Amino acid sequence: MIGTGYVGLTSGPCLAKIGHQVICVDNDQSKIDVLNQGGMPIYEPGLKEIIDENRRAGRLSFTSDIRAAVAGSSVCFIAVGTPPRETGEPDLTYVENVARDIAESMKEYQVVVEKSTVPVQTGKWVRTTIERYNRNQTPFDVASNPEFLREGSAVEDFLKPDRVVIGVESDRARDTLLEVYRPLNAPVVVTDIASAELIKHASNAFLSMKISFANALSIVCEASGADIRLVTEGVGMDSRIGKAFLNAGIGYGGFCFPKDLAAFVAIAGELGYDFGLLREVERINEDMKRRFVRKVKGVLWNLRDKRIGVLGLAFKPETDDMRFAPSIDIIGQLVAEGARVRAFDPQAMERAKKVIPGIEFCGRAEDVAAEADLLAVLTEWPQFRKLDLAALRDRMRVPIICDGRNLFERSECEELGFTYIGVGR
Ligand SMILES: NC(=O)c1ccc[n+]([C@@H]2O[C@H](COP(=O)([O-])OP(=O)(O)OC[C@H]3O[C@@H](n4cnc5c(N)ncnc54)[C@H](O)[C@@H]3O)[C@@H](O)[C@H]2O)c1
Repeated sequence: MIGTGYVGLTSGPCLAKIGHQVICVDNDQSKIDVLNQGGMPIYEPGLKEIIDENRRAGRLSFTSDIRAAVAGSSVCFIAVGTPPRETGEPDLTYVENVARDIAESMKEYQVVVEKSTVPVQTGKWVRTTIERYNRNQTPFDVASNPEFLREGSAVEDFLKPDRVVIGVESDRARDTLLEVYRPLNAPVVVTDIASAELIKHASNAFLSMKISFANALSIVCEASGADIRLVTEGVGMDSRIGKAFLNAGIGYGGFCFPKDLAAFVAIAGELGYDFGLLREVERINEDMKRRFVRKVKGVLWNLRDKRIGVLGLAFKPETDDMRFAPSIDIIGQLVAEGARVRAFDPQAMERAKKVIPGIEFCGRAEDVAAEADLLAVLTEWPQFRKLDLAALRDRMRVPIICDGRNLFERSECEELGFTYIGVGR
């Protein structure tokens, strides 16, 4: 498993758990050192236990030596990052580098599997790269096996997937990957490589579209006096639509939706199709962050020297991941207008300190309320629901909640004397 980020560090140990012998590789030596000393480079519920258990059982190891790892393996998963460039296209240099390293290290037949999210037709480039650097003419196949896990429930998602997608161009590669995943007993979709690559981009694009749909609907709800939560409940009960990903809020973030959508729009454009529908999904998402800031200004008037307490920084609950978190843009806009921001997140503080300058980080959720003119909810951590709202109110200078995630009940907040502003309610 090459790349031990959120995907590789979940997939590798989970494959060990279902009985395989797994070597996890990363070229970030500090990550490997942390793992080899029994530590965790990321927060992901339930993952450390699986790593400890399988390492003890001798099925799992961590190394920065890609050559030794590849030489000793029959299947190589590429799970490195595919970050966005300015243009929206993904930077596939990491994938290419790994393909070259694999080509130079292979000793016997290998299935080289793209697990990273990549644009359709990347498989062809991986094949070409390996052919170019495969001096020993070692036989190999390329395959696509996109990953659908979600941070925060990654272990459960990996071990109980809705489906496993296997894109292959030979029976041998298909049989190898079917064997790898057999212990999961999950539904499997076997396709060609291009279709597997597209299934991943299409899935993330569709989910982002659901979120932007709910967000656009929330604006109509606000203007008409309807409640978005009731509307989406009623809409989502239609089995053709489904309830998931219909929560209105401040927009999606994270390392997947924003970059995958941009990458999908870019590759579709390259292939001659202007996927305008998805550009609109992106536009709605960006607008939700600006709308949230406008709501804050709408209730506070000028922001200069106003004190704003922020609950939640991670792009979603149960993760420490700050990549493309809406909090970064929103807090950036608040700070740019002169607001004094104090923030707390249960897991993402260390990462947030690196990407959000000019604010104060608090040790406890309660502390962000001290002397605050407004409390902004940016991530719906479930433990925030248990906060003593009356105590928060007493610490605030002015009791106003701007709830970007519809975490709290309006009636309860208003009974306690808060001015409550949600999304689409
Ligand atoms: N994070 C998610 O929830 C998620 C879900 C599904 C798919 N994906 C996709 O999976 C891929 C990885 O995402 P991630 O969140 O795990 O990224 P990540 O940045 O957390 O991890 C990538 C890892 O690859 C390592 N790496 C880079 N170049 C390397 C090399 N040459 N050799 C060895 N290691 C190398 C990096 O050091 C890093 O640890 C991306 O394409 C992403 O879109 C992510």
